[in-house]
Parts: sequence; C-alpha cells; structure tokens
Amino acid sequence: MSLEVCGGKPLKGEIAVHGAKNSVLPILSATVLRAGVCVIENCPCLRDVHSAITILEHLGCRVHREGSTVTVDASTLHTCSIPDAMMREMRSSVIFLGAILARTGCAELYLPGGCELGNRPIDLHLSALRCLGAEIEEEGGHICCKASCMVGREIQLSFPSVGATENIMLAATAAKGTTRIRNAAREPEIVDLACFLQKMGVSIRGAGTSEIEVDCVEKTQDVIHRVMPDRIVAATYLIGAAMTGGDVLVCDLVPEHVATVTALLECSGCNLDIDRDKIRVRGTENLKSCGTIRTMPYPGFPTDAQAPLMAYATQCAGTAVFVENIFDSRYRHVSELTRMGANIQVVGRVAVVEGKSPLSGANVSASDLRGGAALVLAALCADGVSRISEEKYIDRGYESIENGFSKLGAEIIRKGE
Ligand code: EPZ
Repeated sequence: MSLEVCGGKPLKGEIAVHGAKNSVLPILSATVLRAGVCVIENCPCLRDVHSAITILEHLGCRVHREGSTVTVDASTLHTCSIPDAMMREMRSSVIFLGAILARTGCAELYLPGGCELGNRPIDLHLSALRCLGAEIEEEGGHICCKASCMVGREIQLSFPSVGATENIMLAATAAKGTTRIRNAAREPEIVDLACFLQKMGVSIRGAGTSEIEVDCVEKTQDVIHRVMPDRIVAATYLIGAAMTGGDVLVCDLVPEHVATVTALLECSGCNLDIDRDKIRVRGTENLKSCGTIRTMPYPGFPTDAQAPLMAYATQCAGTAVFVENIFDSRYRHVSELTRMGANIQVVGRVAVVEGKSPLSGANVSASDLRGGAALVLAALCADGVSRISEEKYIDRGYESIENGFSKLGAEIIRKGE
C-alpha cells in the first residue's frame, strides 16, 4: 500500500480534529487499574489504539468498540504478562507496566517498540518504580517486576519524561501514602490522564505543572471520559492549510495546546482567526522564514511538530534553523524531503532549511509517524504526483489521513502495491 498525492491544490474547507493518540494510549493502560468498566469517548481509530486494545484483551479485559467509544471491562483481568511481539508494536506499551504493577503487584513484559527516533531507553521509568519499592530484573529486553508493597516517595526526574511521568502516576495509585513527582512532564496529555484518574477516584494534585502529587487510592469507581483533541494532528492540518496557500477552519482543538505552532505560522505571514475551540488559517504566497525552532518539553515547541513544520519551512523564503533537543535522531524525513527538491543540511541535532524551494512529486518512503506526515504535507505542495510508501507509520497517529485531506480538496488516495 502507499499514498498517492497530486499536489498543487490549496486546501479549503473545514476539518474536525480527532482524539489524541498520546492521551488515549496511557488512558487505555489506566483502565487496568479499575476492576470494573471504563468508557472512553472520542477514541481515535489508529493502529496504536488497536495495539493497545490487543494488549488489554490479552490481559483478560473485555473491550468493546462502537464508533469512537471504547468500553473496557477490566474486572476479568487474569494475567500480568505481555508478550514480546505485543510490546514491540508501539512505545506506549511500556505504560502498561505501572498499571499492571498497581493492579496485581507483579508484571512481566519486554522493552517497548515505537518509532525509530534514536535511543529510547526506559531507565527513568524503571528507576522511579524501584524508588517506589518495585523489585525489577531486566535481562535481554525481558523485564520482571514484583511490587508486593509499594510506598509513596518523592521522585526527582532528571528529564521531564512524558512516559515516565505517566508510569509513575499509575504505579503511585497503589503506593501507600503520597508520591510526589518533581520535574514531571507538563504535557496536556498528562493533564488528561490525571483527569481520567480523578474520575476513577484517585486524588491527584499539580498535573500540568512540574510537581505532581498522587495519593494511594483505596476504592476505585467506574469512569466515563472524553479524550482531549490531538494537538499534533491539529498542528498538521493548520500547517497544511498554511503551506498550500489555503483557507481552512480547523475545529475541535484547544488553541493553547498549539500556541507555539500558531505563533510561528503568524510570524511567517499567515492570517489566523483563533476562537475558543477552532482556528481559521489562511496561507499567503509570500511566506517568510520562521527563524530558529528549538524543540522543548511542553509548553515549548513540540518535537512531534518538528517534521511537519520543516516541510512548511521549505515553502518559506529565507533560512530556518531547527534544533531537535528531545530525540537523538529525528531527521529521517530530511533525505526524503530533499528528494522532492528541498534544500536542507543536517549537522547533529541541527537542520538548516533554505527556502523557498519549489518541490516536485517523487517516490518517497515514511520511516516514522511525524516524518511521514511531513512527506504528505510536502507532496500536497509539490508539482506533480508523489507516492509515499510505508504509510503504516502515518496510520499510527492519523485517522485516515487521506480522507482528512481529501475533505479539504486535496487529491490524495491510498493505493495497493
Ligand atoms: C511521548 O513519548 C510521546 N509518545 C512522543 O510522541 C513524544 O514525542 C514524546 O512523549 C515527547 O513529547 C507517546 O505519548 C505515546 P519521553 P515518550 O519519555 O514518553 C528520553 C509521536 O510521534 N528518555 O518524554 O517516549 C527519550 O529517549 C510520539 O506521537 C530517557 O532517556 O517520550 C527521549 O530522548 C513520538 N529515558 C526523551 O527522554 C527514559 O526512561 C523524551 O522521551 C525515558 C525517556
């Protein structure tokens, strides 16, 4: 399969943003904490969500999906182990560790998979869980944990890791007393997870700040929760409209969550009308460089928007400098953008984009989720037809990207080999 795009058409119309992948995945893990029923609304239809549901069913949970509503009954959970093949499907499989430990007192799993963005260890996750009293043995990628009696502690994270913060929050629900996480991640997805846990009966304070406190919970209750909108999908549509000289209303988003992206679009010459839960973006012919973009933990510029914004930067006059501070190797889309005519030089963590470069349709290959989205954006601007292979990476985080952009007038279809 591949995506075939005939570029050159400005995007026009209205598009609604689906639920957030990076929020629903830890929330699906968190359903394990409740020996009862959790209803999750606005759940996107994504490959990674399917992988998480497969793990839940392997653990013995009953999962039912109706449209964008997923119901999980974890009362029938009967094992604490997850096979290697399931763990390798995605990065966020590791977030089941904290939840299974809290529910059963033991866990057996393997190192997680996920997009190839350089080294992605889980040392912060494991050292934090050991701090709470978990006994963890790891050998050859196999991880065995026992936590008969976890006790709340103060945990200082050396880096505000999103996944480590989530794993600690989930494990801490079964750690006696109170757990305090210092230098916690502040991403909106952390706040959404905290909101879900609070509805379950967990007392949590400070989510969204760098200091989070979680109290041990005695009694949980059933939950109904609507997942927040996906801020990276929202950013992708905003960027697509801007770089094709289009006029698009992006609905069902939280403007604050994409503020660093909209600020860059405005300073490069786009017109934005920002409303409570929607943004209208109109691109112009004469876009100018965004300057220097440094990826940082939230509320800084999100690393997940780096590749999409780099595609945009190729259409802006002047030099843009990207500094990728979060992952070791997140420039694998550069070679493919170059194949389409972009002028980009990479030295270590820095990528320098010289624009404006006219892009030509080409055969390109996605190698990770957001890099793949960047190739789609470039293809929408390119002169001629592009074929994007390995689109399975894009399907991890975008619900039918071809339908979304087709709704906005793009010529994009999914084709068999
Ligand atoms: C989450 O990944 C997101 N994934 C990523 O989105 C996102 O890019 C990332 O947070 C940063 O915002 C999900 O939520 C499923 P981290 P995560 O732990 O939790 C290092 C996408 O495209 N680190 O904050 O894995 C790590 O190697 C994906 O949707 C350690 O060294 O991110 C990385 O360099 C890609 N040791 C940095 O910290 C650890 O124990 C940030 O990782 C953990 C992380």
